[in-house]
Amino acid sequence: MTRGKFISFEGGEGGGKTTQLNFLCDTLKSIDIDVIQTREPGGSKGAEEIRNLLVEGPPERWDAVTETLLHCAARRDHIKTTILPALEKGLWVLTDRFSDSTMAYQGYGHGVNKKALQNLQQFVAGTMQPDMTIILDLPVKIGLARAEKRATQQIKNNNGQEDRYERMGADFHERLRKGFLNIAKNNRKRCIIIDTTRSVEEIQSTIQRLVFKKFGLSEDG
Ligand SMILES: Nc1ncnc2c1ncn2[C@@H]1O[C@H](COP(=O)(O)OP(=O)(O)OP(=O)(O)O)[C@@H](O)[C@H]1O
Ligand SMILES: [Mg+2]
Repeated sequence: MTRGKFISFEGGEGGGKTTQLNFLCDTLKSIDIDVIQTREPGGSKGAEEIRNLLVEGPPERWDAVTETLLHCAARRDHIKTTILPALEKGLWVLTDRFSDSTMAYQGYGHGVNKKALQNLQQFVAGTMQPDMTIILDLPVKIGLARAEKRATQQIKNNNGQEDRYERMGADFHERLRKGFLNIAKNNRKRCIIIDTTRSVEEIQSTIQRLVFKKFGLSEDG
């Protein structure tokens, strides 16, 4: 059994991660690749419970280290119960955020020691990392405006108000944007940066082209 591929979507708020992940998932299914989509924080029963602690409530609810440890606990459960079993069965796994978000948000955003974060990541995931990471980059103002639009849709659909990180202020979001760009620079083989000021359709076709090239796929499978 060939192990499935593991792809993460990363970036700040409102960059279009969820939108683009859904498109890529449909595209892969259309060429008969078995794929699951998942997200962080969350993606397994236990991790979804921890998610609620992280994305709801006031920004100052947790200090930066506690917040980091909650993300790591959720990730460990996500890896053990969702990601690894799927990859071992040959399924592809697309995740909306993974460990780069911890480095960007807690490391660059809150100033948690980056070496400590790398050690924690090693403790939680060993050497396991995505085969490809798609970083959706966008000026902070536009991203927050888009995220707000998305949040309004969520409230309309009665899906709770998951806006704890969105409310952390523009400076925080500037730091994490820079963080994601640095992460990409330091991991050139794994990461690609996508400028998401373009249309949804243009971004979609760029991502498809890059994913197909990376994994040697073609339109007919
Ligand atoms: N390229 C784009 N141009 C304009 N609007 C977009 C684009 N991509 C996504 N949007 C819109 O912006 C909003 C946020 O998109 P989406 O939820 O996919 O982003 P996200 O990165 O998952 O956000 P979050 O971090 O808040 O989960 C949605 O309303 C979506 O329709
Ligand atoms: Mg999203």
